[in-house]
Amino acid sequence: MTGPIRRVGVVGGGQMGAGIAEVCARAGLDTVVCEVDAVAARAARDRVTSSFDRAVRRGKLERADAADALARMVFAGSLEDLADRQLVVEAVVENPDAKTEVFAALDKVVEDPGAILASNTSSLPVMRLGMATGRADRVVGLHFFNPVPVLPLVEVVTSLHTSAQTARAVEEFATGILGKTAIRSQDRAGFVVNALLIPYLLSAIRMAESGFASPADVDAGMELGCAHPMGPLKLADLIGLDTVASIAESLYDEFKEPLYAPPPLLQRMVEAGLLGRKAGRGFHTYD
Ligand code: CAA
Repeated sequence: MTGPIRRVGVVGGGQMGAGIAEVCARAGLDTVVCEVDAVAARAARDRVTSSFDRAVRRGKLERADAADALARMVFAGSLEDLADRQLVVEAVVENPDAKTEVFAALDKVVEDPGAILASNTSSLPVMRLGMATGRADRVVGLHFFNPVPVLPLVEVVTSLHTSAQTARAVEEFATGILGKTAIRSQDRAGFVVNALLIPYLLSAIRMAESGFASPADVDAGMELGCAHPMGPLKLADLIGLDTVASIAESLYDEFKEPLYAPPPLLQRMVEAGLLGRKAGRGFHTYD
């Protein structure tokens, strides 16, 4: 890759992809968000504009800067639109087959052989994604936290094949351009944050499942007793219960420790479509 990163692509315009694209555009980058079709691309645009509106309402962003950032964004319906990107961040559903397929396709579409292909995976091995391409040295994990415009952390995850130059380039991108704080993690399921967070969320779910305490009391306990901004069941609802279950499965797959095993209640809620905030109902209900 030649020169500083100015042209970024994001694959997937869900809550994480839209958030990543938003922070890139706000940092002055030319940003293409790629969705599966025009309808999904429009939904991604709506997500970004409502987040801009929220930032403006909260006094974090000038209306004119929001308009400029939006003007730097293209919402596309095909991966071909990422051909000239210097960095692409994949943020599709937390499913190994879906992610591997995206990496294999990106490897063919992104023309600059030096371009970096990053994944926002929460828990899957970066190595597996790298091996789906012919440029594993330029494949890296770049894991953001939800809500992306608000939370300052990114995890930079290097596989055994990721080059030091790639790791340095994305770290400089995340800190110098996006203004985030980066931590490094080895390529182990869950990396640093989810390896610690997910067992805690699963313990809260088991607590609610067994009737030990109500969801409201579990959450109030951690919000008022430990000053967490939100309790574990509200946080699970925010992340999405399908995503929590997928991360738990990856962790359990990797370490075979009972503390990572997704509890039956979580599995049933996912099967029932009670996915948390995005579905209007999870452990709590939302308008
Ligand atoms: N752009 C910029 N700033 C924004 C914004 C936006 N789009 N939307 C909100 N903000 C700012 C607000 O201005 C506010 O800032 P101040 O406190 O300085 O005023 C702050 O963000 C909080 O916003 P709100 O007051 O509107 O909302 P809140 O107080 O109810 O907080 C929350 C909501 C930010 C989600 C907070 O509850 C929180 O931080 N919760 C914990 C979230 C968390 O732990 N996330 C990590 C999940 S794990 C993950 O993501 C990884 C994974 O792989 C699963």
